[in-house]
Amino acid sequence: MKISLLFSWFLLLASHHATAADAQLQAGKKLIDTHCISCHASSYGGDGSGIYTRDYRKVRSLNGLKAQVTNCNTMLNLKWFDDEEQQVVQYLNHTYYHF
Ligand code: HEC
Repeated sequence: MKISLLFSWFLLLASHHATAADAQLQAGKKLIDTHCISCHASSYGGDGSGIYTRDYRKVRSLNGLKAQVTNCNTMLNLKWFDDEEQQVVQYLNHTYYHF
C-alpha cells in the first residue's frame, strides 16, 4: 500500500516534469498511431516507419513534410486542425526526418 502510494506520487511528479514539447510529440504520435500507421505498415511491415526512412523517401525538407501531412489530411478527410498537423509534423521530424 505504502509502496503503491509512493509510486503514484512519483508518476505525478514525473508527469509534471514533462515539457510542453513532449506533450506535443505525444499528441502527434497518437494521431499517427490512430490514423496513419496501419496503411503504411501494410506495405512496409512492422510499425510502418520504413516509409519515412527508406533510401528513396519522398520528403526532403521540413516544408515538404508539412505539405505531405497536409495532403494526407485532405486526402483522408481527417479534418485535422492546423495545430494537429503541426503536432504530426513535429513528431515525424523529431523521430525520423531530423530536418
Ligand atoms: C491508405 C494508405 C495510407 C494512409 C492511410 C496514409 N498513408 Fe502516408 N503514404 C502512403 C503511401 C502509399 C505512401 C508512399 C507514396 C509514394 O511513395 O509515392 C505514403 C507516404 C507518406 C509519407 C512520405 C514518406 C517519404 O517518402 O518520405 C508521409 C510523411 C506520410 N505518408 C504520412 C502520412 C500521414 C501523416 C498519414 C495520416 C494522416 C498517412 N500518411 C496516411 C499511404 C498511406
